[in-house]
Amino acid sequence: MSFGDKVHNVVFVLGPPGSGKGTQCSKIQSNLGFIHLSAGDLLRAERQRKGSEFGELIETHIRNGSIVPVEITCKLLENAMLASGDSVKGFLIDGFPRNQDNLDGWQREMSDKVKVHFVLYLSAAIEVCVQRCLNRGQGRTDDNEESIQKRIVTYNEQTFPIIKHYEKLDMVREINGEKSSDEVYAEVERAFKNAGFRHHA
Ligand code: C5P
Ligand code: MG
Repeated sequence: MSFGDKVHNVVFVLGPPGSGKGTQCSKIQSNLGFIHLSAGDLLRAERQRKGSEFGELIETHIRNGSIVPVEITCKLLENAMLASGDSVKGFLIDGFPRNQDNLDGWQREMSDKVKVHFVLYLSAAIEVCVQRCLNRGQGRTDDNEESIQKRIVTYNEQTFPIIKHYEKLDMVREINGEKSSDEVYAEVERAFKNAGFRHHA
């Protein structure tokens, strides 16, 4: 399989853990027809896959809140994009690029296959994010105090500089993620409309 000649539309979705990335992405998927690809979800699925040579490595990174090498994550994203077929409107890539390694690997592998339109940045105070993670009850092995603290350190030290990088390119659309999910979504949809993406029929 290959991408052929089609250049796929991509929007990156970033923000601290618990800022509402997954929630907003499912709304965008149902209302605007983008396909939601969560790097974290793809890594968790790969961790569970029988015969995966990366299972243990992924679990160690997830518990420590550290970032899996981009060769693994980018391949999972690319495979998921290929599996979605050619007729999709675009991809929401949630939780990626999380650090410089993610960004470099993506540029190497994907830059001529996609157009990144903007970075949707859901901002929220760290205390709000910690409480949301502790309360969300999704059974994640990293939604405990210790892993959450580590994920926040990783976010501040490694992910925030990536957001800054895209800010310099004037590609960041920042939305306050602390409001109710419907209020946040109203602003999210405006950002997509401003980028030329409309409600699907
Ligand atoms: O985005 P999410 O909170 O689901 O990510 C969970 C974990 O998956 C991260 O803390 C990190 O260990 C791993 N991850 C990664 N690289 C990414 C996205 C997630 O290593 N690009
Ligand atoms: Mg998520």
